[in-house]
Amino acid sequence: MAATIASQSSAALKFDLVARCSTTRARASCLTLPHGPVQLPMFMPVATQASLKGLTPEQLEETGCRLCLNNTYHLGLKPGQEVLAAIGGAHKLQGWQHNILTDSGGFQMVSLLKLANITEEGVRFLSPHDGTPMLLTPEHSISLQNTIGSDIMMQLDDVLVTTSPDAARMREAMLRSVRWLDRCIAAHKNPDRQNLFCIIQGGLDLEMRRECCKEMIARDTPGIAIGGLSGGEAKADYCRVVATCTELLPELKPRYVMGIGYPEDLVVSVALGADMFDCVWPTRTARFGNAVTKYGVLNIKNAKFAVDFGPIEEGCGCICCRKGDGGLGITRAFVHHNTAKETVSAHLLTLHNVWYQLNLMREARDAIIADQYPVFIRQFFANLYPNKA
Ligand code: GUN
Ligand code: ZN
Repeated sequence: MAATIASQSSAALKFDLVARCSTTRARASCLTLPHGPVQLPMFMPVATQASLKGLTPEQLEETGCRLCLNNTYHLGLKPGQEVLAAIGGAHKLQGWQHNILTDSGGFQMVSLLKLANITEEGVRFLSPHDGTPMLLTPEHSISLQNTIGSDIMMQLDDVLVTTSPDAARMREAMLRSVRWLDRCIAAHKNPDRQNLFCIIQGGLDLEMRRECCKEMIARDTPGIAIGGLSGGEAKADYCRVVATCTELLPELKPRYVMGIGYPEDLVVSVALGADMFDCVWPTRTARFGNAVTKYGVLNIKNAKFAVDFGPIEEGCGCICCRKGDGGLGITRAFVHHNTAKETVSAHLLTLHNVWYQLNLMREARDAIIADQYPVFIRQFFANLYPNKA
């Protein structure tokens, strides 16, 4: 175990900085949450409806995952706040003893429903079940997240889904997100047991991002997220925004870039000083028959895999690929055989892909601790793009 070089605690969270890369902004840390410690940088798989599609909680645990995402909006609709309160929260609902982070819900309504209408009060939308008008306010989102009992709760924010060219609307969204954070802080009932993170907005405008950082930092939440990205912006714009924010953020708080999950983006974002990431992509793509590997994404439905008796990925330590030590020694041929009708392939590829993402971040962490992160990045990209070196 690497020793702590600096640390900071708040009521329900402890952040131990373990190593700083000497040439990039990458850092390795340990984040202790109410349901145990997690090692950063880390990828968090998304269990939208309080279950990771295709995995049991036990299987998710076996991948090494100790922090997964749930969504306030989905849980608030079904099973709903009363059932959540009766059962004692989302950990009990899903039989998960480790940490849970909940997104606040507004982003999902705006991106999924496209029927959402945002005012100062909150996000208005029509129930996808019966079309009745509903309103998600900062207070309601926090009340739901308090009932869910998540270890990390996200503020309700005003997110523009597109890389909107409307600077005035972007500025309104940024300032409204700051005002909504104040309402979230005021509504939060369990600051001793649940951590509320702010979300920095401001689109691709670096000056607006700086202004937002300043406002959010002043509110002193235990962790800080960077939102409004992952919307198809150019990589250079993405990097500029993340770097502009990490330059200003306090060193001893976790930094979470929302909605990011392609392996290339994770590796680069870590170099820019980010610690936490989430995305549905690795698990969703598994259900389309895709395996994420260090040499890129393989579609196992491809006919050539019918007679490929190797593992999904050579050298992978996931339960599907590994032989011995409780591993299943599954072959590509078997996964291919089952992709047609059976769901077993989706389960196996989900296990593999989640393990891949978590392991990528474990390896990044080890490289940062050894102060070899630039070497790690070069090797990562050489594997992915062997002809471009
Ligand atoms: N998921 C991806 N991006 C965002 C964002 O900007 N805000 C919220 N709340 N969730 C997100
Ligand atoms: Zn594997």
